[in-house]
Amino acid sequence: MFFLKETDVKNLISIKEAVSNGLSFRKLMKVCDEIKPYLHDTEFVYTYAGCLLASHERTDEAIQIFVLNKDDTFCQIMYNYLKEYGIFEPAGKVFKSAVPYDIYVQTNFFQNHQAKAIQSISNIVKTIPPPDSDTPVTIIDIGPGNGALIAKIINEIAPIYNLDFVRLIFIDPFEDMLNKATEYCKENIHIECEIIPICCKIQEITETQIKRIQQNKPIWFTNAALSVHHIPKELKIPMLKQLKSFSPNFILTEVNWNHDLPEKDSPELIYSVAKSYGIFSKDIFDLPVSEEDRKLCLYLFPVSEAINIIKQERANRIDYHTTIAEWEKIGKEAGFSVGEAVATYISDKKPFAFVMGFQV
Ligand SMILES: C[S@@+](CC[C@H](N)C(=O)[O-])C[C@H]1O[C@@H](n2cnc3c(N)ncnc32)[C@H](O)[C@@H]1O
Repeated sequence: MFFLKETDVKNLISIKEAVSNGLSFRKLMKVCDEIKPYLHDTEFVYTYAGCLLASHERTDEAIQIFVLNKDDTFCQIMYNYLKEYGIFEPAGKVFKSAVPYDIYVQTNFFQNHQAKAIQSISNIVKTIPPPDSDTPVTIIDIGPGNGALIAKIINEIAPIYNLDFVRLIFIDPFEDMLNKATEYCKENIHIECEIIPICCKIQEITETQIKRIQQNKPIWFTNAALSVHHIPKELKIPMLKQLKSFSPNFILTEVNWNHDLPEKDSPELIYSVAKSYGIFSKDIFDLPVSEEDRKLCLYLFPVSEAINIIKQERANRIDYHTTIAEWEKIGKEAGFSVGEAVATYISDKKPFAFVMGFQV
């Protein structure tokens, strides 16, 4: 959702060239000064140059340049991080531990987004009754996190369809998240539930795991909230086709960011990363938690993700967040009819996160 104007891209390319040609810091600053007045977002010149320097192992110079835009949340975080760690590498594997996630769910962004997502997902589910079958009503949830979202959705829709039992298939690559989600759902879902945990990345699901899911058909719908942006566009289509073979209904909740198609070091990629993670991190800054917990959450979640997106070649990125327009195209190519996106959080008058229904 954060797109640069074409003229800005053209101007910013001279910074990219300066860094890849190994220009001295003094000469790079001269290039920044020259193009700055022509940019719509003038201070972004420092964000861009800082990210490129950090990514090209020029950490000390990156610190010197990030400080010039310290009013910007993203630059401030990067400045603090590089000062502390001295290296532009992710602090750890995102979601390996559930602790940073437990802190993040307290943010204003998450609370508002989640309330709207539950409402929007329930509205879609209200239009697709459960399949007529003697087997238990079954739902897949990809990347359940701590389980709170799917539990709240079930509690919202169970009374509408008089459900007294539900079977949930959780797909997540982390045992810690699967255990958390199972525990939360057992304690908080108001009807009886059976949980089948499947430990894998959705894009690496095995034939045995697929068979295990198929045995539980018919499956009412598949829910994927903030969990299927880990694969590039070219693999998203086969993934959606796989999901289509599980259930005719797929409900996607995602962020409307632009981290799939732009190439490494491009102004478009770094603009989207800095703006999106800046807004996202601002709420973590504002949380009434200890400094230690704040850092744990920031460094192991948004900062680690942002560094990975900036530093890796496109083929090795961990996150490929894609815009609403791209998801529409991908869904259609996979053979779904795609409903209109409903914003769950708005920033700068545009959807920052959204829910979208896909049906066969
Ligand atoms: C941001 S959390 C979202 C949690 C929950 N769905 C929500 O919206 O509140 C992302 C979840 O996706 C899981 N995840 C990460 N990569 C995944 C992948 N490749 N396939 C399936 N799940 C994944 C994470 O472990 C985590 O549980």
